[in-house]
Amino acid sequence: MRGANLIHIFFGVLALWSSASCVKAEDPYRFFTWEITYGNIAPLGVTQKGILINGQFPGPTITAVTNDNVYVNVVNKLDEPFLLTWHGIKQRRQSWQDGVLGTNCPIPPGANWTYKMQMKDQIGTYNYYPSTSLHRVAGAYGGLNIYARSVIAIPYPIPVADFTMIVSDWWNKEHKVLKNLLDTSKPLPSPNGLLINGKPSGTIFTGTPGKRYMLRVSNLCVSRSINIGMQGHNMTLVEVEGSHTIQQKYNTFDIHMGQSATFLITLDNQVRDYGIRVSSRFIKPILNATAVLRYAGSQNQVSGPYPSPPSDYHWSMLQARTIKWNLTANAARPNPQGSYHYGMIPIVRTIVLANAPAQINGQTRYTLNGISYENPTTPLKLADYFNIPGVFVMNGIKDSPSGVTPTEGVSVFGFTLHDFVEIVFQNNEKVLQSYHLDGYDFWTVGFANGVWNPSLRNRYNLDDAPTRNTVQVYPMGWSAILIPFDNKGMWNLRSQDWARRYLGQELYIRVWNTEQSLYTEANIPDNAILCGKAKQ
Ligand SMILES: *[C@@H]1O[C@H](CO)[C@@H](O)[C@H](O)[C@H]1NC(C)=O
Ligand SMILES: *[C@@H]1O[C@H](CO)[C@@H](O)[C@H](O)[C@H]1NC(C)=O
Ligand SMILES: *[C@@H]1O[C@H](CO)[C@@H](O)[C@H](O)[C@H]1NC(C)=O
Ligand SMILES: *[C@@H]1O[C@H](CO)[C@@H](O)[C@H](O)[C@H]1NC(C)=O
Repeated sequence: MRGANLIHIFFGVLALWSSASCVKAEDPYRFFTWEITYGNIAPLGVTQKGILINGQFPGPTITAVTNDNVYVNVVNKLDEPFLLTWHGIKQRRQSWQDGVLGTNCPIPPGANWTYKMQMKDQIGTYNYYPSTSLHRVAGAYGGLNIYARSVIAIPYPIPVADFTMIVSDWWNKEHKVLKNLLDTSKPLPSPNGLLINGKPSGTIFTGTPGKRYMLRVSNLCVSRSINIGMQGHNMTLVEVEGSHTIQQKYNTFDIHMGQSATFLITLDNQVRDYGIRVSSRFIKPILNATAVLRYAGSQNQVSGPYPSPPSDYHWSMLQARTIKWNLTANAARPNPQGSYHYGMIPIVRTIVLANAPAQINGQTRYTLNGISYENPTTPLKLADYFNIPGVFVMNGIKDSPSGVTPTEGVSVFGFTLHDFVEIVFQNNEKVLQSYHLDGYDFWTVGFANGVWNPSLRNRYNLDDAPTRNTVQVYPMGWSAILIPFDNKGMWNLRSQDWARRYLGQELYIRVWNTEQSLYTEANIPDNAILCGKAKQ
């Protein structure tokens, strides 16, 4: 079913599609006002200051439909500047709304700012969290689920309801204390526990016997991969980060930092309670959180063992290779995804990015190709817009890791709109890495142990690799992704290991062309906050 000869007109079709949608009846709007406050919470029994949204921890789940306009007015009642970012929301033509310090001035304490986003051409399980400081270890995170429009067929029977599961790691210490540890070159300690929807146990998902439910899991941990498994049921994987997968059953499933996975669960077993277990992976001590899948009418509590996976990286890697793209399924748009044969598009540039710790000016930092990112006081996006010199230079970071002395800097790769690019993440450390790119989905075409070299391209999956927005890189290994840079703007590429990201393991990607057109990039929002050199 994959008409490979459609490749060359793909970008054209995309452009037509977006212009066509500009003259359609207006898409619906959903408005939210969120007050961000400190508040006492005790997820693991120790009362401490958490960050709440409208008094809630975790924050509310946003439910939207493809192409909805979602406006969120964020009122910052903390004592520090604050931003939320919307993980996996592509912000098409709108990097203005991305909510990271390279695109936005932070919302000052006591002020508010309204994100004006469109869920353009997206379906799937996403989430949001704070991008500033170490705020996200204290809360203000939650789920964001986008449903298909009714006119778009989905490749499975419609479930009767959704269960949204936000998994996070938790410390019995306040975010400023943890930040201070990192600022003084001390490691982040092991988390005190794992949470499912804010609790180590006791979350109950109730369903009707015989019916089918959708389980939407986001790994919002800042320091751990997780594995999920449940008693009495295999889980049918149907989607990863907006990409419909070949539907396969899993007994347990690994989800790395920043990734999400969507499963169908059929309540076809005996009427009782079944335990759902989430465990941290690879790093000892292993932490666990549990929840309950309850069949309505159950008289029997959870009992018996939980399914658990082998603890090794090799198993995890083999499992990850079983995740395949369903080439005949629709996505958010009614064109078969497989008609776009990504494996045949010429690559215009290859970037190899290696992560490494470094001592810079007497401080422990983390680098990508030798550069540890430091946020300038002026967002890169605003420097670009107002032509402010001295904030960043493009391509100061090298395309490969060799021969660089570690420094701090403002790494920005420059690309031309529609460049088709290969990025290889090389991990020469003994801990798993996880990387997220804002503004895009990419094909995760290969990952393996060892050091990447061009001859390994012949091992890439060029047929049915899933598209994702976050990719794991196994210890002493590499992962390769292919990206069509078709979304103009300034985009954050970052480690999802949040201590590393805080200490510089991130960079920006500027996707540009000289044509000024609202079809390729929206204007600066009229409510944009100005700061740094953009304020003068
Ligand atoms: C702040 O909130 C008010 C409503 O309370 C709204 O009118 C205003 O546009 C918001 N400010 C920004 C910059 O979004
Ligand atoms: C899950 O799948 C495995 C392998 O197909 C099977 O052996 C097992 O019985 C299944 N478990 C349940 C609860 O259906
Ligand atoms: C792929 O998607 C199609 C819908 O187009 C669906 O009928 C089929 O079951 C899916 N295949 C698998 C193996 O998941
Ligand atoms: C979590 O569960 C695993 C086995 O499933 C066990 O080895 C480990 O000790 C548990 N961790 C804690 C903190 O209880």
